[in-house]
Amino acid sequence: MSSRVTKAVIPAAGLGTRFLPASKAVPKEMLALVDKPAIQYVVEEAAGVGIDDVLVITGRGKGAIEDHFDRSPELESHLEAGGKTSELDMLRALSSLARVHTVRQGEARGLGHAVGTARAHVGDEPFAVLLGDDIMDPEVGVLAGMIRAFEQRGRTVIALRRVPPEQIPLYGCAAVEPLGDGSGLVRVLDVVEKPAPEDAPSDLAMMGRYVFTPSIFAEIERTPPGRGGEIQVTDAIRSLIASEEVYGYPFEDGRYDVGNKADYLRATVELALRREDLGPGLREWLVERLGRP
Ligand code: G1P
Repeated sequence: MSSRVTKAVIPAAGLGTRFLPASKAVPKEMLALVDKPAIQYVVEEAAGVGIDDVLVITGRGKGAIEDHFDRSPELESHLEAGGKTSELDMLRALSSLARVHTVRQGEARGLGHAVGTARAHVGDEPFAVLLGDDIMDPEVGVLAGMIRAFEQRGRTVIALRRVPPEQIPLYGCAAVEPLGDGSGLVRVLDVVEKPAPEDAPSDLAMMGRYVFTPSIFAEIERTPPGRGGEIQVTDAIRSLIASEEVYGYPFEDGRYDVGNKADYLRATVELALRREDLGPGLREWLVERLGRP
């Protein structure tokens, strides 16, 4: 196994029921945050750390994802003819972000199963998994730090962040011990998918970024359906810990949850406020608007 991480897997087969009716005919991954579909932020994050091969796990009705990352000759000639060079450059940069492949999950059998469908594509190589409900600020560099940790240790690294007790049931949760070597990493002793707050081994939740050794595939294949009757990636990590060390990469800032409508709205405002072209005007309007009933 090489220790260079060049492949990423983005599970995007879910039905997006939390975003109905917007997600009825448009994949929820294609809903825009400001002016980019959510999944583009995730592919840019992967490309930004040198990953040039991205496999998106899709399902029925997700064709727009493939179109989004593909060349669009008609649109490009139209922009070229109209002298719209900045739009043209933007589109070309988008379709050359990474080699974006897709594979269908076939059956909706859970996140672990979705990751398992990447096996033939990934082969015997390490790979990153990026969940689209978590959008990361690239400036904070969580994935970059995880990949550095992986390249030094050659073992699975998962992103962890403290959450308040009432949020524990939304996440996979980890029991950890400090490594104490100044690296900031922790050793993951156990993980459990969406425990009740009183059963949680800690307040450290898994945040949708993983760098796996290929051994995770064999664990996924052995993993029976777990919480919600689905094959959980958390359960596969739990078995992996029995044979390989798994490290946790704790971080604090720079994550936007876009998994439900309220968080999606917050993320949209946050991302817009950070934009040079939109931020100042939006800030001014927000202050004025919040002063009114
Ligand atoms: C999934 C995982 C969970 C993880 C979470 C991060 O849950 O199963 O372990 O903590 O993503 O966002 P989901 O949000 O898909 O229900």
